[in-house]
Amino acid sequence: MKILAIETSADDTGLCVIETNGVWGAPNFSCTVLVDLRAAQTAHAAYGGIFPTVAKREHAEALPRLFEEVRSFLENLDAVAVTVGPGIEPCLWQGIEFAKKIAAEYRVSILPIHHMEGHLLMPLYHEGTFSAPRFPAIVLLISGGHTELILMRAWGAYEYLGRTRDDAAGEAFDKVARMLSLPYPGGPHIARLAEKARTEKISQSLVLPRPMMHEKNYDFSFAGLKTAVLRYIEAHPLQSLDRERVAREFEDAVSDCLVYKTRRALEEYGAETLIVGGGVSANTHLRCTLTEASKKIGVEIFLCNPKDSGDNALMIAFAAAFRGGRHEYADASSIVANGKMKLC
Ligand code: KG4
Ligand code: ZN
Repeated sequence: MKILAIETSADDTGLCVIETNGVWGAPNFSCTVLVDLRAAQTAHAAYGGIFPTVAKREHAEALPRLFEEVRSFLENLDAVAVTVGPGIEPCLWQGIEFAKKIAAEYRVSILPIHHMEGHLLMPLYHEGTFSAPRFPAIVLLISGGHTELILMRAWGAYEYLGRTRDDAAGEAFDKVARMLSLPYPGGPHIARLAEKARTEKISQSLVLPRPMMHEKNYDFSFAGLKTAVLRYIEAHPLQSLDRERVAREFEDAVSDCLVYKTRRALEEYGAETLIVGGGVSANTHLRCTLTEASKKIGVEIFLCNPKDSGDNALMIAFAAAFRGGRHEYADASSIVANGKMKLC
């Protein structure tokens, strides 16, 4: 099956073409990436977050430009896949309208895709091969808009265990970065400062809270942590060492909360596998602590290559390969954007 996939849910425009062989989940399933293009928008750095009207305009500009680069790969196209939610609705619509146009031009059907299912499947792909996880699996999805723990008992069988009650993990990274005068997106900048604090063994005088960590549920809360950082900054005029201290303690606090509850979910549900997806899963410290925790309890962990953890069309193409295998095509006229779309 040859699939063109389109991703425009936030501030990255992605277009890619893959060719799949075999049945999804079967050992003979394989996937060739013919082309994978990504255009990250830079205009948002100055706003400290995504500015929807700017993002929408940039998608409108990038889509036809990227499409010209993938056109030569579209011979014998079978389907067009497009992210329909969750995300920023005006941005999602840009991708959807574009998908409808291309599907009509090539006379193929459309596969409407859930963005988070893309993040969930991406870690299973490594250099041309797709691994089938052993079930039950626990899935930790951590991005700019979402922080979710999901129980996955089979392909496509999802059960929410918990989610953030306020800010998403990535959002907290971005907001704290802004407090420290670091550019957007802030995650990688915080991670860099935190790493410096660790390697240079900068003394740690700050202790931040681990909200909800010991509560007997699988929910998260990062708004209080962010406020604690703000209070600290207000009380201590920031010197250079302090930025590193704050970054490190903040990163530790977020990791502790995520790892603690993920580990508890793995144990409670007797999981065989841990899948970690979303932009925040690029975080080195978190990757190490999650890997260590998985090893300790004998669970196989799937993390994506950090370059693929953020938004891209490849993950949408994989979700489309899965949904296409189940013939979950939709009539073009019925496809709408759903900014708050649920996975289950
Ligand atoms: O999945 P993603 O690309 O977009 C959404 O679907 O939201 O995630 C973006 C988020 C941003 O909040 C960004 O700061 C965060 O991922 N991020 C990181 C790192 N790299 C990206 N957070 C912590 N550490 C990183 N290394
Ligand atoms: Zn995303």
